[in-house]
Amino acid sequence: MTSRVQTQSGSQIVLGIETSCDETAAAVVTRDASGAGRILSNVVLSQFDKHALYGGVVPEIAARAHTEALDHIVRTALVEANVTLADLSGIAASAGPGLIGGLIVGATTGKALALAMDKPFLAINHLEAHALTAGLTDGIRPPYLMLLVSGGHTQLLLVEGVGRYQRLATTIDDALGEAYDKTAKLLGLPMPGGPAVEQAALRGNASRFTLPRPMKGRADPNFSFAGLKTAVRHAAAGAAPLSSSDVDDLCASFQAAVSDSVRDRVRLAMETAGPLLSGASGRAFVVAGGVAANAALRTALTAVAAEHGFSFHAPPLGLCTDNGAMVAWAGAERLALGLIDGLDAPVKPRWPLDPDAVKARGAGVKA
Ligand code: KG4
Ligand code: ZN
Repeated sequence: MTSRVQTQSGSQIVLGIETSCDETAAAVVTRDASGAGRILSNVVLSQFDKHALYGGVVPEIAARAHTEALDHIVRTALVEANVTLADLSGIAASAGPGLIGGLIVGATTGKALALAMDKPFLAINHLEAHALTAGLTDGIRPPYLMLLVSGGHTQLLLVEGVGRYQRLATTIDDALGEAYDKTAKLLGLPMPGGPAVEQAALRGNASRFTLPRPMKGRADPNFSFAGLKTAVRHAAAGAAPLSSSDVDDLCASFQAAVSDSVRDRVRLAMETAGPLLSGASGRAFVVAGGVAANAALRTALTAVAAEHGFSFHAPPLGLCTDNGAMVAWAGAERLALGLIDGLDAPVKPRWPLDPDAVKARGAGVKA
């Protein structure tokens, strides 16, 4: 259960643990009394090699790999930050959403350390950690508009404050990272698909294949990528056998369709959210999640932000993908507000940031 203790006015030093998917990560960050953050260490071990053979993350393998690696990763994060467990103000761990085996490994480790050291424990929503990262990297304070694009999520959120989110849009089928990964698989490109498709697209002709711009012009800002993926499959079948330049052209055409569609959806959200944003950070737009690494998408989003009077913020690539620093930072933000969790805090494979959001028609079970 989350309880509210006295707000912590001084500076915080927090350990963050991330094990919700296939990265085993730990980090130490500080948050000073003015709310400014600093990363003291940020250690990420990717399990990519362990899953590559299977073409996707295998939950049981992920949980075992977290168990094997986490103690060492936590110790390395503390040593690199030059702090001991006794120096910490709190210990934060991702408690959802994500794969349950990994979440249990990370949250149990965090709780055990908190119990042994008599420190506050913070059960962090992984999506909240992504959403608050701009506070750590760019000093952006809520309210702001945020696009979260990863392998599991594609959401537009109004970040109103710590623990307060309004979901403006979500995908009604595949997440954008998933669409990149499936397109890569279909075209025989290596995993992870996003970077491989982006590289191929650089060499390709984006106007060779005519592909749909999903949801463009629709009155609600939701996303959809399943139809686009099917259109790529049909285009690929029509051009088979595929030469490498056919693959490059398909990737370039796919990426252009994605950028166009996302740009249109974000434009709509900016028109809706713009008038609501009058905080210290003005009209700020933040993008995060693994797909935020995509240069074509960043270019499209930079343009749409400029057109609508929004400042554009994208965390550095290493803080877009899963990491411990974002978890530690969310923990520090919550600790500053006196929001701590009991050692009975559950892990939640599904944990939407805005539980009241109306389900998008056709949406699957993704949080
Ligand atoms: O946030 P993330 O590291 O993990 C979660 O899904 O939580 O995101 C991973 C996703 C993968 O689908 C990957 O293909 C995609 O982000 N991705 C990219 C790029 N880099 C990673 N997609 C497009 N372009 C990229 N450069
Ligand atoms: Zn993530």
